[in-house]
Amino acid sequence: MESQPRPEQPDPQGAGNGANRVAIPEQPDPPRADSGVDRVLIFDTTLRDGEQSPGASMGMEAKVELAQALADLGADIIEAGFPIASQGDFEAVRAVARTVEGPVIAGLARTFQADIERAWEAIRDAARPRIHVFLATSEIHRDFKLKMACSEIVRRTAAEVERARELCDDVEFSPEDASRTEPEFLAEVVEVAIDAGATTINIPDTVGYAVPGQFASLIRYLKHHVTGIDRAVISVHCHNDLGLAVANSLAAVRAGARQIECTINGIGERAGNCSLEEVVMAMRTRHDFFGIDTGIQGAKLFPTSQLLTKLTGLEVQRNKAIVGANAFAHEAGIHQHGMLMNAATYEIMRPEDVGVDHSRLVLGKHSGRHAFRRRLEDLGHSFDDETLESLFEDFKSLADKKKEIFDSDIDALIEGNVEEFEPHWILEGFQAVAGAGLQHFASVDLRDPEGRVHREAACGEGPIDSVFKAIQRLTGVTAHLRDYRVNSVSIGKDAQGEAQIEVEYAGKTYRGRAVSTDIIDASVRAYLSVINGIANRIVGPVDWKAAAIPVDVSDDVATISSEATADNPAAKGAG
Ligand code: KIV
Ligand code: ZN
Repeated sequence: MESQPRPEQPDPQGAGNGANRVAIPEQPDPPRADSGVDRVLIFDTTLRDGEQSPGASMGMEAKVELAQALADLGADIIEAGFPIASQGDFEAVRAVARTVEGPVIAGLARTFQADIERAWEAIRDAARPRIHVFLATSEIHRDFKLKMACSEIVRRTAAEVERARELCDDVEFSPEDASRTEPEFLAEVVEVAIDAGATTINIPDTVGYAVPGQFASLIRYLKHHVTGIDRAVISVHCHNDLGLAVANSLAAVRAGARQIECTINGIGERAGNCSLEEVVMAMRTRHDFFGIDTGIQGAKLFPTSQLLTKLTGLEVQRNKAIVGANAFAHEAGIHQHGMLMNAATYEIMRPEDVGVDHSRLVLGKHSGRHAFRRRLEDLGHSFDDETLESLFEDFKSLADKKKEIFDSDIDALIEGNVEEFEPHWILEGFQAVAGAGLQHFASVDLRDPEGRVHREAACGEGPIDSVFKAIQRLTGVTAHLRDYRVNSVSIGKDAQGEAQIEVEYAGKTYRGRAVSTDIIDASVRAYLSVINGIANRIVGPVDWKAAAIPVDVSDDVATISSEATADNPAAKGAG
């Protein structure tokens, strides 16, 4: 996209470029509410701004499912979309408005009659509809995007907020790029919007330029300079370009804002929006400081985050606060020791308060004796100090080679056979047939420890399911698949795909991982590494010879019948 040239060096005053520079006169903080319930409204825009994240688009069914989950989570307002943007968006907003009960359902509109009427059409069936009208106010947007004078912005704001208000009692107005707008002009536009009937005034930090102290000053400034500001709820909408969206939202709340616009997992344009789970848990965990409540059910945060990942395929970074896989995981020995004594030493929230089952003490090269001993005990082992010490040394040397030590590795350590570990089955090759309207089918060739190659075939619900079934039939190991995910670990058309698989077998968890440019290949290898772990460490070598009915198809390839019969337990996993 063509864009205006930017200065090569950052402004020494830290103002970026001229478009950014606005001076906000300081105002005192409003008094904190010391009594009664002081509540901040949670306006979830995952379905609108969140969906503007590259890769986050959702179909109508997914949007309704997520909207229902947001209602169950306790969101006060759900911005369900931008109805004029497309027929699909319109229908999704209308479906949410018609089916999801509880929260206010908002639809976004520019200051155009067509936008406002379309938004109203989409939301009018909601029990509590809201039209959210926006118009940019900053100089750079006025001059380059809108090509509008200030007077025209003021006139349009008044006219279109009024139009929206004629249709709907609940109207929100956003002066887009408010944080880079001259405060005096911003105050003028906000006042006009309130006079025209806006019931919520949202102050967006559209490009994530604000910093907490300054953004709080802007809110205080508006509270002092806009006549009638008390007739509207002050809202904030912060983007995360400098990683400050949550901090800015919290600072604004301290300054008097009472609605936060945010998204699950912080998804949204560019670096995203204020993360709902983070901002809510910050206010809850530091209630002593903020003295503010929300209506969010903490225990639903993690499940809602997972649902969004499932619906969009957008993974959450492991170290993301609240909902990342490592948010309640501890690896350092000193931390694990503290956790075993009292979880509050290293955790400021209880995992169950955000819907995570429990904290995890990850066994790796930084772990200490305490955590290792506790894990052994949890697995039902107890050893004298000398054996424990020797096992701990073996564990440390294994941990130097492996990122994470799983229960199956510990079993292998105890059996003293880590060094002897050899994969039982070796992948010789596989073929998978996929396609719309076709039966999915796969055949797999595995080499056994005696060097013979066996082939098995299976049909399944997709190429990967078919391959897994063929492997189950061939090896006789049927494990319960608990988690299967594929991530791209590089970009471009020859991107590497990483498959991660977690299965449960005989009450224990086994994990496998493999990387390949072909995701089916990565999946097959990850699955086989799990099956090998089970075969070698727990069951011992699978006696496929006793179980199978081999049929020679060539000199060195035997096929095992795929029919499950009482005499053929190797086929147990089929179906
Ligand atoms: O970031 C922004 O300014 C917006 C507005 C439409 C509220 O998303
Ligand atoms: Zn936004």
